[in-house]
Amino acid sequence: MWCSNLTPLATVNRVLLLLVITMAECNTCGPGLITPGVTIPKGDIMIESGEPLEIFCVLNKSIDIAANRSARDLIFLRDSKVVPSEFLEIINETTVRLYVKQPPPSESMYYCKLQTPADELKPGQSRNTAVCLNKVFVGTKPQEVKNFTCISQNWQNLTCSWEKPENFVKTKYKLRYRFPGRAGGRMQYGCPSNTDETSNYCFWNDSTDPHYRLPYAYYYYNLTGENQFGNASFSHKFHHYGHVIPAPPTDLSISGTTHNSVLLNWSIPYAMHTFPPGLIQRVVYQAEYDTNDIWLPANTSNLKTHGENHSLNITGLKYAYMLYEVRISMKSSVATGEDKWSTPTNITFMTSAIVPGAPPKTDIGSFEVSGGLLRDVYIYWRYIPNEMKNGDKFEYKIISVEENGQKRYCSQL
Ligand SMILES: *[C@@H]1O[C@H](CO)[C@@H](O)[C@H](O)[C@H]1NC(C)=O
Ligand SMILES: *[C@@H]1O[C@H](CO)[C@@H](O)[C@H](O)[C@H]1NC(C)=O
Ligand SMILES: *[C@@H]1O[C@H](CO)[C@@H](O)[C@H](O)[C@H]1NC(C)=O
Ligand SMILES: *[C@@H]1O[C@H](CO)[C@@H](O)[C@H](O)[C@H]1NC(C)=O
Ligand SMILES: *[C@@H]1O[C@H](CO)[C@@H](O)[C@H](O)[C@H]1NC(C)=O
Ligand SMILES: *[C@@H]1O[C@H](CO)[C@@H](O)[C@H](O)[C@H]1NC(C)=O
Ligand SMILES: *[C@@H]1O[C@H](CO)[C@@H](O)[C@H](O)[C@H]1NC(C)=O
Ligand SMILES: *[C@@H]1O[C@H](CO)[C@@H](O)[C@H](O)[C@H]1NC(C)=O
Ligand SMILES: *[C@@H]1O[C@H](CO)[C@@H](O)[C@H](O)[C@H]1NC(C)=O
Ligand SMILES: *[C@@H]1O[C@H](CO)[C@@H](O)[C@H](O)[C@H]1NC(C)=O
Ligand SMILES: *[C@@H]1O[C@H](CO)[C@@H](O)[C@H](O)[C@H]1NC(C)=O
Ligand SMILES: *[C@@H]1O[C@H](CO)[C@@H](O)[C@H](O)[C@H]1NC(C)=O
Repeated sequence: MWCSNLTPLATVNRVLLLLVITMAECNTCGPGLITPGVTIPKGDIMIESGEPLEIFCVLNKSIDIAANRSARDLIFLRDSKVVPSEFLEIINETTVRLYVKQPPPSESMYYCKLQTPADELKPGQSRNTAVCLNKVFVGTKPQEVKNFTCISQNWQNLTCSWEKPENFVKTKYKLRYRFPGRAGGRMQYGCPSNTDETSNYCFWNDSTDPHYRLPYAYYYYNLTGENQFGNASFSHKFHHYGHVIPAPPTDLSISGTTHNSVLLNWSIPYAMHTFPPGLIQRVVYQAEYDTNDIWLPANTSNLKTHGENHSLNITGLKYAYMLYEVRISMKSSVATGEDKWSTPTNITFMTSAIVPGAPPKTDIGSFEVSGGLLRDVYIYWRYIPNEMKNGDKFEYKIISVEENGQKRYCSQL
C-alpha cells in the first residue's frame, strides 16, 4: 500500500533526516524512517478554526523497543509541553487518540513519544523515544486585509499596500481593479506581472504592465484572498484624485522685496499641469526674529487651482531689514486629508531697510557736571528693540543740543 501527501520530517530520535523520497509505505512515520509506530494522519495537518484536532498514535510492536509496551506508554507533546491526559484516550492495546475540541489559531508541532519505564532502560537509552510528529496549523478563511492604502506620487506612479491579517495557514491576496463607466466596466486589471505573489503591495507607473492609468477619478479595487479553506473578495472604491501627493513646487524665486512685502513666483511640477481637479497652494512664512515656531499663513485666496505658474505678493510683513523664510507646499484640491500635502519648497529673503521703527526713549534724568570751560552733559536713553532698527548700520546719534534756544557745539563720544 502506498500513500502520498507526505512532508519531510526532521529530528526523530535526534537524527536529522533529509528526505527526498515523496512516496513511502503508510506503516512508517516517514519515508525511510524506522520508529516504533506512526501517527494518523501523517504530515502537516491544517485545521480551520473551530474544528477539532484529532491525531492517532499507533505503536508497532514488531519494533524491539515497543515489544513490551502498550498505548499506556504513549504521550503527546505540543511543542515542548506535555499534553495533559484529559486530551488523550486509549483506544486499544496499541493506539492512543489525541482530541482537542477547538484548538486556538496557532502553528505548533505535536510529537507522539513512547516512554520506557526507568527499570527497563538500557545503558545510554533515553526515556522517551520519538514515535512520530505532525505540524499542525489552525487558521481561518481569508480575512479582510488591514490598512489598505494607495498613494500616487506626483500623478506619476501609484503604490497600493496592505497588511495581511494574522493567519496560520498560508493565504494569498491578489489585487485587481476596474474603472467606472462603460469603457472600463468589464475589463479587470491586476498588479504588474513582475510583482512577487507573496508581497503585500502593487506598484504601477508608466513602464509597468499594466501601466498606471491617470485619467480616472475613481478606481474600483477588488482584493481576493485565497487559502485552502476558501476564497473571499473585498471591494474598495478608491478616490484616486484624492490620494495624489504632488512633488514640491519648482522654480521658486523672489522677484522683489520692499521693507514690508515680497513678491514670490513658483511653478507646479510638470507632471501635474493637467491634473483635473487642480491644486491648492499653501504659503507660510516666519521672521528670523520670531523664534517661536509659529508660521504665519499668507493670503493665497487669489491663487487659482488650475495654473502652471503662480505669483504672490506677501504684504504686511512686520519687520524691515529682517531675514524671512517662506515655505510653499500644495495638495490636490480634492485631497482626502492633511497628510496629502507635498513636501515644502523653502526660500529665504531679506526685507529692505527703512528708517528705524521708533525714536529712542529718553529720560528726564539727564544731568550736567560743570567744571571750568567745559561741561559734561549726560543723557540717558533706552535702546530700541532690535526688530525696530530696520537697517544695517544702525547707530544712535545726538543731532543737536540747544541751550536757551541757541544751538551749542558739542563733541560726542
Ligand atoms: C512495523 O514495523 C516493521 C519494520 O519497520 C514493518 O515492516 C511493519 O510493516 C510495521 N507494521 C505495522 C503494522 O506498521
Ligand atoms: C520483554 O519482556 C520479556 C519478559 O519480561 C523479556 O524477556 C524481553 O527481553 C523483553 N523485550 C524487550 C525488547 O525488552
Ligand atoms: C487499534 O485501533 C486502531 C485505530 O482504530 C486500529 O487501526 C488498530 O488496528 C487497532 N489495533 C488493535 C490491535 O486492535
Ligand atoms: C494600520 O496603520 C496604523 C497607522 O499607520 C497603525 O497604527 C496600525 O498599527 C496599522 N495596523 C496594522 C494591523 O498594522
Ligand atoms: C514615483 O514618482 C515620484 C515622483 O516622480 C518619484 O520621486 C518616486 O521616486 C517614484 N517612485 C518610484 C518607486 O519609482
Ligand atoms: C517606473 O518605476 C521603476 C522603478 O522605480 C523605474 O525604474 C522606471 O524608470 C519608472 N518608469 C517611469 C516611466 O518613470
Ligand atoms: C472580485 O473578484 C472575484 C474573483 O475575480 C469575483 O468573484 C468577485 O465577484 C469580484 N467582486 C467584485 C465586487 O467585483
Ligand atoms: C478559489 O479560487 C481559485 C482560483 O481563483 C480556485 O482554483 C479555487 O477552487 C477556489 N477555492 C474555493 C474553496 O472556492
Ligand atoms: C513673477 O510673476 C509676475 C506676475 O505674474 C511677473 O510679472 C514677473 O515677471 C515674474 N517674475 C519672474 C522672475 O518670473
Ligand atoms: C485675502 O485676500 C482676498 C482678496 O484679495 C480678500 O478678499 C480677503 O479678505 C483676504 N483674506 C484675509 C484673511 O485677509
Ligand atoms: C506688493 O504689495 C505692496 C503692498 O501693497 C506694494 O507696496 C508692492 O509694490 C507690491 N509689490 C509688487 C511687486 O506688486
Ligand atoms: C523645507 O523645510 C522643511 C521643514 O523644515 C524641510 O523638511 C524640507 O526639507 C525643506 N525643504 C528644502 C527643499 O530644503
